[in-house]
Amino acid sequence: MLVRLRSVDDPQPSEITPRVIHENRRAVLMAAAAGLATWSASALDAAVAADDVARPSGAALLQTRPSTLSTMERPTPYKDVTGYNNFYEFGTDKDDPAAYAGSLRVRPWTVAVEGEVARPRVFDIDELLKLAPLEERVYRMRCVEGWSMAIPWVGYSFAELIRRVEPTSRAKYVEFVTLADASQMPGLRSSVLSWPYVEGLRIDEAAHALTLLTLGLYGEVLPKQNGAPVRIVVPWKYGFKSGKSLVRIRFVEKQPQTSWNLAAPREYGFYSNVNPQVSHPRWSQATERRIGEDGFLQRKRPTLMFNGYAEQVASLYAGMDLRKAY
Ligand code: MTE
Repeated sequence: MLVRLRSVDDPQPSEITPRVIHENRRAVLMAAAAGLATWSASALDAAVAADDVARPSGAALLQTRPSTLSTMERPTPYKDVTGYNNFYEFGTDKDDPAAYAGSLRVRPWTVAVEGEVARPRVFDIDELLKLAPLEERVYRMRCVEGWSMAIPWVGYSFAELIRRVEPTSRAKYVEFVTLADASQMPGLRSSVLSWPYVEGLRIDEAAHALTLLTLGLYGEVLPKQNGAPVRIVVPWKYGFKSGKSLVRIRFVEKQPQTSWNLAAPREYGFYSNVNPQVSHPRWSQATERRIGEDGFLQRKRPTLMFNGYAEQVASLYAGMDLRKAY
């Protein structure tokens, strides 16, 4: 990743959410998880409205239910989630995606699912929105550059889609191909990466309940800068594994070649699990700075193994040397 030593456009230290709002949100989530309250995305919106953040302005995703897979950490303010992004198809600066992704046309949109599957299929985005019940999952996200956020994504487990296309026994990996259209994406003029942006997972990683086919955030459809209209989110891996604006999903026998691995194989391996013990060749991965909380006195947080999801995912890597399989 292109990393500056000191960034002039780092976000301003923003206000810490008053504790009462955080506690309210927590209470709503706990009650909903316990079946005591009817959840709607607007409950989170209401909590957030009291926070000093820009309001979401996309189409609401109604009937979003809470998930027990959510972290109880306070969500990063909306303005940071949607204003501090990596989406190199629109430029390499953190504020480029918010500034330039307006040119992305998100309708009509289809995602072709093909390769080693019994039932290859082209899904229209409206079908994907209805394929399975939408859940809100607040996930910790850790970028390989050393910053993190907690993002209230909306979607459902990618396993729901896998189930419908029936992978064959030869399907060992899943390749995620994202849109590359120079007429909509000014960043494609740069050769910083090979386009289209491609990512991949082992099929058991893709089928893990945490792997989220993501259609929204903060109770609304995905903003363009966050990968509209559909992306994948893999919270125990560095952020670049979570490809945005998907157009093709291929089930394949061989490990896919991924854009970042092609660009810098020593720096970005296929697995890229969050691992505080394995430094990037140019910097440590032991700590992280939480965007939106990085005031003058804010300490860096220790980075957790598998980004805090070890209990759920460590077994996927039993017997592997994670120093070599970085
Ligand atoms: N997907 C595409 N198509 N292009 C990109 O440049 N950047 C990745 C990932 N997915 C990227 C992408 C990186 S480096 C990160 S950290 C996350 O998206 C950022 O997601 P966010 O901006 O929604 O937080």
